[in-house]
Amino acid sequence: MSRRVADLLLLSVAFSSSCARKPAESAVAAAYADPKTCVGCHDAIAKSYAETGMARAFGKATPTSLSLENWSKNNTLDHKISGRFFRLEQRGGRYFLRRWQAGESNVIEREIHYVMGSGNHARSYIHRTPEGRLSELPVGWYPGIGFAMSPGYDRPDHQDVRRKISFDCMFCHNGYPDLPAGAGKPTSEPIWPGKLPEGIDCQRCHGPGRAHAESGGQQAIVNPKKLPRDRSLEVCMQCHLETTSFPLPNSLIRFGRGAFSYRPGEPLGGFMIHFDHAQGREGKFEIVSSVYRLRQSACFTKSGTLQCTTCHDPHRVQRGGAFDAACQTCHVSGPHNDRPNCASCHMPKRRTEDVVHGVMTDHKIQRRPPPGNLLAPIAERHEAPGQGYRGEVALYYPSDLAGRDRDLYLGIAQVIQKSNANGAAQLESAIIKHSPREPQPYFALATVADDPEPWYRKALERDPDFVPAMRNLGEVLNRRGQFGTALPLLERARTLAPRDPPVLHELGLAYRGAGRLAEASNVLIESVKADPEFPEAINSLGLILAERGDLTGAEQRLREAIRIQPDYAEAHLNLARVLLSRDQSAAAQMELEAAIRWKPALTAAHEALGGLAAAEGRWPESLARYREALRLDPTSDRAALGAGSALAALGDFTNARSVLERVARSQDPEVRNEAKQVLEALQTGRYRN
Ligand code: HEC
Ligand code: HEC
Ligand code: HEC
Ligand code: HEC
Ligand code: HEC
Ligand code: HEC
Ligand code: HEC
Repeated sequence: MSRRVADLLLLSVAFSSSCARKPAESAVAAAYADPKTCVGCHDAIAKSYAETGMARAFGKATPTSLSLENWSKNNTLDHKISGRFFRLEQRGGRYFLRRWQAGESNVIEREIHYVMGSGNHARSYIHRTPEGRLSELPVGWYPGIGFAMSPGYDRPDHQDVRRKISFDCMFCHNGYPDLPAGAGKPTSEPIWPGKLPEGIDCQRCHGPGRAHAESGGQQAIVNPKKLPRDRSLEVCMQCHLETTSFPLPNSLIRFGRGAFSYRPGEPLGGFMIHFDHAQGREGKFEIVSSVYRLRQSACFTKSGTLQCTTCHDPHRVQRGGAFDAACQTCHVSGPHNDRPNCASCHMPKRRTEDVVHGVMTDHKIQRRPPPGNLLAPIAERHEAPGQGYRGEVALYYPSDLAGRDRDLYLGIAQVIQKSNANGAAQLESAIIKHSPREPQPYFALATVADDPEPWYRKALERDPDFVPAMRNLGEVLNRRGQFGTALPLLERARTLAPRDPPVLHELGLAYRGAGRLAEASNVLIESVKADPEFPEAINSLGLILAERGDLTGAEQRLREAIRIQPDYAEAHLNLARVLLSRDQSAAAQMELEAAIRWKPALTAAHEALGGLAAAEGRWPESLARYREALRLDPTSDRAALGAGSALAALGDFTNARSVLERVARSQDPEVRNEAKQVLEALQTGRYRN
């Protein structure tokens, strides 16, 4: 078996692109006042509001903000299924998360810079990289439990330290950040360079208040109480409406709207559109569910007046009794109108499906609580797009969306997270009917079309600067080996988004395919500089260094990719190949076994193990490895060649011959020739192993 480094497979990872958002960010600074300016004239409200969870939903990590936790007790987690240890530490007034694997290998340390969540129910720790990316750390904190894995992390291949804080996370959990002009475009990933607000401030519910404050209160400011019911509810719904946090999608921002451009008082449906499961998940209960569940209550649908503020005063922390009085405003003469704590029976606390350590109030007001133990512990459920819910995506809010908007947004929602297998036809007919001017519908259809190219091209006809379409089309062309076509497209994408790591990565792959290895490694180095925690780019760089003969550099990069993502199977495989060409077969064997542990279906790793066993004369093992590879990929000629050779070596000439005769017709000349040689040896009786 030849082990030339040139055989190294380039295993790039498809980069998922969620539906892109358009900027049009009017400068926050122009219309909004510094949140502190409200305090001077509204000090009583400001003081009581500061105590609420909302006011403390996001902030810097300080000894005061992090005083709920005990930083020296039960602060080490042995997360067996991912093979990783985590420790939270406080050192000199600063906070850190350390992650390592057995034998102190693959150590990573991250400072905790921010905390998201007051800790009333949970909190997440946030690290800010020097480039301004925010990432959620794998360990969070829960009252009554202490440190535990963050939601979504209880799995072998979790996102570790790489889960980025998206625009929607920040939208729901903080005041509006003042992003530089142009940031928040679909062409840029969420980067937070400047000062961040610390907590949800008055203006998220009252709208921009600068003119009001500077005029001493003369200029009007939004008071939700004076808005019609729907507009007033929507002030809360902007953050409290989430139909689901599992892939569906829950919502889409309208084309042309910036991520932070909603203003209280405008119709929420003019900014974003919400979707729901069409069937099968009627009883779901998730962490952000107050709006969704309340809207199912008879109290809500039949009163016509019930709102969040009927029961809640958002300016202050409320306790139990406050709610009975609210019920009694409508239920004046009830069957048991004097029974205290109405909510304990009619709005029970329940464990949520998506945050399994979380217990929240069920806002669906019912006669009797749902059956069963509502607080029983449950296991975490993981649903990748297209693997959880499979069915129609229904319109949820605004329910009266009609015509073109309904067809297009609903069409996109069917496909953008691969929920509806029949969604592509629905979206395509919406596109044909309305010929939209925006690139997003074409882009969404491309992500699920059998032939994505024409749809990406149509997206680019509508908006020639739509970088996500350039990047994805470049990836399609690279995969098809059309590097010459991919190159100009990706070069143009780079001029528009010069520091976009996935664009640079894809461009690097195109250069490599075109045989321009020096340029490939330069642009991959840029990609890694732009995001030093982008394992795919580091892996690709390692491969190219290997191809250029720099095995030491290659090994170093591949080990770095694995340090960042210990479950990165392709990087283990590639490292094994580099180690093999450095004659370190024992170390290579370990890497190959790691590759298979993380990705049992990685055919190439089974083949490489078969080759390694063959090279060392372990023929029964070699045969077994190749057979496993063939089971996974019956079309692999390399695996068949290996199996045939192993059979021959084991003396089973009849079966060896029948396998090898098939391989001798392979498309791959190298495989074909090798098969012919073994067959000839068998024929002439010269076969020796
Ligand atoms: C210089 C003093 C001053 C500052 C600063 C100020 N306000 Fe006011 N605000 C007032 C006055 C005066 C009123 C009218 C009070 C009244 O009529 O009861 C008012 C009324 C309001 C109202 C009720 C409006 C209505 O129509 O019912 C809201 C809401 C409000 N302010 C929010 C804010 C917010 C948010 C900020 C910070 C961005 C802020 N205010 C800053 C003085 C101020
Ligand atoms: C900018 C997003 C946002 C808006 C707007 C918003 N909320 Fe919240 N709300 C949150 C978040 C996030 C939390 C959880 C905060 C935490 O504890 O970390 C929360 C928590 C709460 C709580 C729990 C108690 C507390 O003080 O934390 C209540 C009650 C609440 N919100 C009611 C409302 C009502 C009523 C409205 C509308 C008038 C509203 N919220 C508007 C995001 C928002
Ligand atoms: C649609 C808006 C929305 C999005 C998106 C969202 N959250 Fe939340 N989150 C909320 C609201 C609202 C609450 C409070 C839920 C409640 O009390 O009913 C909450 C609760 C939380 C809490 C617990 C706070 C407490 O009550 O102690 C944490 C931690 C949290 N979210 C983190 C995140 C992170 C991290 C992300 C991004 C990955 C995220 N959330 C995305 C709206 C959102
Ligand atoms: C989570 C949303 C939310 C936040 C944050 C918020 N408010 Fe309000 N505010 C409201 C709502 C809702 C009303 C109307 C209350 C009602 O219906 O009685 C209101 C009413 C007011 C009023 C009018 C007084 C009244 O009783 O009608 C003032 C003044 C005010 N808010 C100031 C502030 C200031 C100052 C802050 C920041 C310290 C702030 N609000 C933060 C939602 C909010
Ligand atoms: C704004 C008015 C209003 C408020 C406030 C309100 N309800 Fe209701 N509630 C109604 C109406 C209207 C109905 C429907 C009555 C009917 O079907 O005839 C209802 C129905 C109910 C039902 C029967 C539900 C069913 O499905 O049959 C219960 C139980 C209930 N309410 C309890 C409460 C409790 C507990 C509170 C406070 C936490 C509360 N309500 C607050 C208006 C209200
Ligand atoms: C009929 C009364 C009622 C209405 C209306 C209502 N809530 Fe609540 N809410 C409650 C009760 C009761 C609790 C539990 C409070 C406690 O245990 O301290 C609660 C708790 C919450 C919490 C804290 C987290 C949790 O789940 O325990 C949030 C957030 C919240 N409500 C948001 C909202 C929002 C947003 C709306 C409007 C869509 C709303 N609520 C409407 C009664 C109400
Ligand atoms: C100890 C539990 C408990 C408490 C506390 C409680 N309820 Fe109920 N309530 C029930 C049960 C159980 C029913 C259903 C009776 C049935 O279905 O026959 C009910 C029924 C109702 C109904 C529907 C009645 C009808 O005939 O349509 C309303 C409205 C209601 N409760 C309101 C309230 C209010 C308001 C409070 C607080 C002042 C309250 N409940 C406190 C257990 C409770």
